[in-house]
Amino acid sequence: MVELLPSILSADFAHLADQVAAAERGGGTVIHVDVMDGHFVPNITIGPPVVKCLRKVTKLPLDCHLMIENPDEFIPAFAEAGADWVSVHYEACRHLHRSLELIAGHGMKPGVVVNPATSVELLHEILPMVHHVLVMSVNPGFGGQKFIEFSLDKIRRLVQLRQELGLAFRIEVDGGVAHDTVARIVQAGADLLVAGNAVFGAGQPEADARALLAAAREAAGE
Ligand code: DX5
Ligand code: ZN
Repeated sequence: MVELLPSILSADFAHLADQVAAAERGGGTVIHVDVMDGHFVPNITIGPPVVKCLRKVTKLPLDCHLMIENPDEFIPAFAEAGADWVSVHYEACRHLHRSLELIAGHGMKPGVVVNPATSVELLHEILPMVHHVLVMSVNPGFGGQKFIEFSLDKIRRLVQLRQELGLAFRIEVDGGVAHDTVARIVQAGADLLVAGNAVFGAGQPEADARALLAAAREAAGE
């Protein structure tokens, strides 16, 4: 079952509660929250205080994508704020196994993220620990970038690895998910679709979320 995860990075931050509600009415089932520190990525966004506020205005799971250095230092604060899923970058974790255990130990669903240049072959050992693998299909830091085509091969390889290892982790894709790419992404095997610009960019999140999800479901044969 494919799910749409509206990314609030492209939302109107002055009207976040309304924007999230609209994306939810359009069929979004998990809210994707991009956390950037200006070090791991060349942009700065939001942190636990905003997650805490979001927690009060939606019942949907909050999927926090940490694009930060030293994520271990902040994982307890995200748990405290009400995050449900937390993903950390392979490239930002010196001790990835420890970081994933820390997330799970705080009662949240752990995910690992790989940048476009990072091979999914590096993940074998930790795949049994994760709830989701997030494939970055753009270089992280900004919304509205062009989908990197070889991400489709990484998705297909993860489907294969999941089968070979007898696991059930979900495959999430983030970056450039839009009308012209969503069918191929779903057909490659991704089932968690993050979309920022395609949902919030034109100022009609409800209608645009609905249309994107419909296209995804059609491609998935659902
Ligand atoms: C980028 C973020 C994404 C971003 C995707 O670093 O991780 O979640 O919102 O934006 P779009 O969907 O506009 O490519
Ligand atoms: Zn993201």
